[in-house]
Amino acid sequence: MEMDLPQLYRQVAFLPKRDANIVLKEFSINNKWKENAYIADFGSGDGSTTTNILQKYLPTSYKKIIGCDKSARMVEFANENYGTDKIEFIKWDITEELPQPWRVAFDHAFSSYTLQRIQEQTRAFSNIYDSLKVGGSCLLLFLGRYSPYDIFRALSRSKKWAEDLKNVEMFISPYHDSQAW
Ligand SMILES: C[S@@+](CC[C@H](N)C(=O)[O-])C[C@H]1O[C@@H](n2cnc3c(N)ncnc32)[C@H](O)[C@@H]1O
Repeated sequence: MEMDLPQLYRQVAFLPKRDANIVLKEFSINNKWKENAYIADFGSGDGSTTTNILQKYLPTSYKKIIGCDKSARMVEFANENYGTDKIEFIKWDITEELPQPWRVAFDHAFSSYTLQRIQEQTRAFSNIYDSLKVGGSCLLLFLGRYSPYDIFRALSRSKKWAEDLKNVEMFISPYHDSQAW
């Protein structure tokens, strides 16, 4: 179940937008943003959350936001619809090697509704850490336990949905079965 349809995603993604507003509001109340900052948005999708939500909370002095996503269609759509001289979207998979220019490059890393889709968690978190300057911060929003995953699992065992959901475990958050909840 890949997330590769930017037009459709923009119409239906009300949960990520609601939650991004909640966490960004709290982060901003505590005045955590640096001036003249460089910011990365990992898994920026169609670009609407990056531009219409994340950007709204930043000090206007911010220098640049780089959004990255592994989907070429998402990146193309994001650049066409939301790209500016200060906001750029680049195709990159967070489980690949971090590009050299992004090492120790960002004051803030942000990610919304993406990390739960990634099985190689250590790799993703290492890349986020390595992208940050000393004293940088990250604000990461992702699903842990989420009851619809149980429904997908149950459906994957039914005759009707077994074929469509044969890769069900690939899109269930690695934290869904954690005993910590
Ligand atoms: C649910 S969308 C979230 C988009 C946006 N952050 C938001 O909150 O509206 C998840 C995005 O993560 C991207 N994604 C999934 N795995 C990725 C990976 N390994 N590296 C980079 N992007 C990834 C998908 O292509 C998709 O655009």
